[in-house]
Order: sequence, then structure tokens, then C-alpha cells
Amino acid sequence: MPAAPSSDVPLFDDHALTDPYPLYAELRQTGPAVHLKRYGVWAIPRHREVEAILHAPDVYGSEGGVALTELANTQILAGTVLASDGERHVRLRRVLSAQLSPRAIRHLVETVTARAGRLVEAHITDSGFDAAKLSRDMVCDTVMELMGLPEETRDYLLTGAAATFEGFGPDNERFQRALPAASRMVQFLHEAVRRDTVTPGSWMAAIFRAVDDGQIDEKDAIPLASAYTAASMDTTILGLTNAITQLARRPRQWELLRADPTRATPAFHEALRFDAPIQGFGRLVTQTTDIGGVRLEAGEQVWLLYGSAGRDRRIWGPRADAFDIRRPRADRHLAFGGGPHLCAGIPLAELQARALLRALATHCTRLELAGQPVRVLNNLLRGLSQSPVAVERARAPRPAA
Ligand code: HEM
Repeated sequence: MPAAPSSDVPLFDDHALTDPYPLYAELRQTGPAVHLKRYGVWAIPRHREVEAILHAPDVYGSEGGVALTELANTQILAGTVLASDGERHVRLRRVLSAQLSPRAIRHLVETVTARAGRLVEAHITDSGFDAAKLSRDMVCDTVMELMGLPEETRDYLLTGAAATFEGFGPDNERFQRALPAASRMVQFLHEAVRRDTVTPGSWMAAIFRAVDDGQIDEKDAIPLASAYTAASMDTTILGLTNAITQLARRPRQWELLRADPTRATPAFHEALRFDAPIQGFGRLVTQTTDIGGVRLEAGEQVWLLYGSAGRDRRIWGPRADAFDIRRPRADRHLAFGGGPHLCAGIPLAELQARALLRALATHCTRLELAGQPVRVLNNLLRGLSQSPVAVERARAPRPAA
């Protein structure tokens, strides 16, 4: 029997985090499942297998397997919706879905659209704007209000969420540095998110209502609340910043969006395919299985490389490494995961992206990168913390289509 494919790639060192794509290409070339010797986990680098695993929760569980260290799996993630399976997952997820479904998000359209217009007008000056700062304000203004947490906790939550994502990675220096902030975040949630502190009618208030109605236990409330604080901000901020930056790099793509603003949502999906804000998540193998002829035993772990799946030529063709907002069905990407744990926040993320890209298309005839963007280095997250963009402003902004 041939030896199982394996690799020594340093997937989480600074060089790889800066530009992981050559390593991803090497892994895709090596096999459908590649044992990463440094981390003791099976990398799944191709789109097809990542998708299949996401849809097989009975064989690939989330509980105890989403992060790369036991500490994160048993402490930081214990009891969360992300790290639960089966009936328990369905029960927890139902509480979030009631707030995040397309129907629930529909009533936000007017507010979010107006906010995007206001922010674009406020951020754009003659010297341009920072796409990361604009995206941060857009997302934080939207979700802080929805979550029902005090505005002054915004910066704290952003720092804590980024640290939580570091904590998903291997036990490297980055992980060790982030641990205190990730633990403080858990503690903060326990202390600050209470029935008497959250805004009535908010997402957090709905969690306590679910406890009072007997849908979930009291002990589930805070782990469930962490889904909102960790999942809803950095992900969307990085996705939006990247979408604007990629458009600013390519004048022709910007023209295409301006000519047809209904391309805003496809442009956002193309940006997510091109650079997944969450590069990977794990699953625990719960029964002996086979991935394209590679045998995996119960107790082993797979690392689903969403970022690599987005560049897989087997599905995206020879132009997988090109950014093109006309790409047919770019929304097949796996940057939102898939299967039972498919991102619960897609309607909200799409709404914010549509509103912001359309507002920019209304106000700017031209975008251009005005300096070197600054990259976020994080065990899990991919994106930019600064992205200076120069603009040519529309004389009389035409109304968004
Ligand atoms: C561009 C923006 C976003 C990206 C790229 C993203 C990405 C993801 C991914 C990859 C997962 C799947 C986790 C897995 O495979 O186990 C996920 C789950 C989740 N996301 Fe998002 N997300 C985004 C925005 C949001 C927003 C705005 C919210 C709103 C609160 C949100 C809430 C959640 C929740 C609650 C889950 C857990 C679902 C479950 O375990 O059943 N996300 N997200």
C-alpha cells in the first residue's frame, strides 16, 4: 500500500500567513488529504473533499475538533454552537437563526443602506479613505446595536475576537501570546452579558428569552453569546476590506461594478472566494473513513482549508487565481463553510456588503490603491488592517440602483 501523503509545510509561520497560496497549491498537488507532520492533523486542501466533509457531520464531528489544540477545544470553545453536534447543535442554532434568518434581516435593509451612505460620505475625503476603517465602522455600528452590548465595549470585543481566532491555531507563539486576551474575552462575556445589562429586543436579550422559555439551559447562554461576538465582526470587516481593495487594484472591475451595481453581491462573494477571511477550521474524525483512497482513523483530525478550496483549479478553472466579479457562481465558495454549520450570518454579511459597495459605486467614479495595505497576521484570519484608497468623487452622486 502506498504511503499516505504527508508534508512538512509550516502553514502557520509568518511567511505562510502572509502568502499561503503557493503552499496551498503544493498541498492540493500532493493529495486529497495530506498529513501535516508539524501539526499532527490531515490538511484537506481541495474544494471537493472540503465540501464533502462539511456535509458528513456523522463522520466528521465539530465537538472537540474545530480548533487545533485541546485547550481551545475543551475550554475556549466548549459549549459553543460552533463546537457542538447533533441535536444539541440544532437546539442552539435555532436560537441564533431566529435572529439571523433572511426574514429577520429584511427589516434591517433600510437602516443598513442609510448607514452605508452616511459612512461613505463621512469617510471619503479628497485624499481618499482607508477601506479597513470604513469597513470596521460599517460592521461595528451595525452589529454592536444588534447585539445589544454597550458601545464602549467595541474595541475590547474586537481585540478579544481576534485573540479567539488565534486560539484556533496550533500551539505556536501566536497562540501563546493570544491566550490571555482570549481567556479574558470568555470572562468578560460571563461578567458583562447579563439579563440586566443587555438591550431589550437585542440578539443577546433573545438568548436570555430562550433560557426563560426553556429552549436552552442557563449554562448555554454565554457560550451561545460568544457566537455573536466572535463570528460577526472580524469576518465581515476583513471580507469587505478585501472586496474594496481588490476592486481598487483593478480599474476595469470597478467600472464593471459601477456599470451594474447589482454586481455588488457577486463581487463580495468573489472576494471571499479569493481570500477567505477564515482560512480553515477543523473536524474530528469519529469513525474510520477514507478520503480519496487515504484512510483516516477515528480520533484523528482534519483541517479544512477553506482558503485553499477557493483557489482550486479543479472547480474554478485555469483562472482560479484571478479576481473577476463576473465569475459564474462565485458563491459556491466555501468561505462560509457548509452543511449544518454553514455560516448563520450570511444574509447580514451580504446585506452590509451590498449596501457598502453600492454606496461606494454611487460616490466614486474611480478607486485606486494609494499605498501599501497592511496585512493582519493571525492563525486563522486573513485580511488587511489598513488599506489606503484614492478616489475620484462623483460630481453629483447618482442614486444607488
Ligand atoms: C464575511 C463574513 C463571514 C464569514 C467569512 C464567515 C465564515 C464562517 C464560517 C467559515 C463558518 C463555519 C464554521 C465551521 O465550518 O464550523 C461560520 C459559522 C458561523 N457564523 Fe459566520 N462568517 C461571516 C459572517 C458572520 C456574521 C455576520 C454572523 C452574524 C452573527 C456570523 C455568525 C456565524 C455563526 C453563529 C456561525 C456558527 C454556525 C454553526 O456552528 O452552526 N457569521 N461563519
